[in-house]
Amino acid sequence: MERTFVLVKPGAVARGLVGEVVARFERRGFRIRAMKMLVVDRGLAEAHYAEHREKEFFGELVSSITSGPVVAMVLEGPEAISVVRKMMGSTNPLAAEPGTIRGDFGLEIVANIVHGSDGPESAAREIALYFDESEIV
Ligand code: RTP
Ligand code: MG
Repeated sequence: MERTFVLVKPGAVARGLVGEVVARFERRGFRIRAMKMLVVDRGLAEAHYAEHREKEFFGELVSSITSGPVVAMVLEGPEAISVVRKMMGSTNPLAAEPGTIRGDFGLEIVANIVHGSDGPESAAREIALYFDESEIV
């Protein structure tokens, strides 16, 4: 069993897509071990996206993720990190296959519906950034 961190981005929360996104992961068989709605502050956003600090889209990324409530969760299941990434689809929704979350619900790269950890270290780091151990059940 593996855990991964998933976040429904503000644009998708505002559009009422939380249920659609969470339902896909539940139907696939992942266990939700933690879930909460929160507004990401600048410090948390910069820590979350630290690997992208030098990219030209970093400012846009931080302002986008802090623009409204998000839904953060810890999902658990076999090969959760890579399976969730497959379900999310390509980073650019214009390239994402239909049937994936990004391929079904959006057209904008920064507001691409969902974030998912890209490896075991980032999963552990992101889970710890967003959740206390006591919030994971
Ligand atoms: P994520 O971290 O959100 O799960 O997405 P990812 O691994 O597929 O993509 P990553 O390279 O980590 O980029 C993080 C987020 O930055 C936005 N982005 N914008 N304007 C651009 O060229 C650009 N490239 C990436 C996307 O919102 C992406 O999810
Ligand atoms: Mg990434």
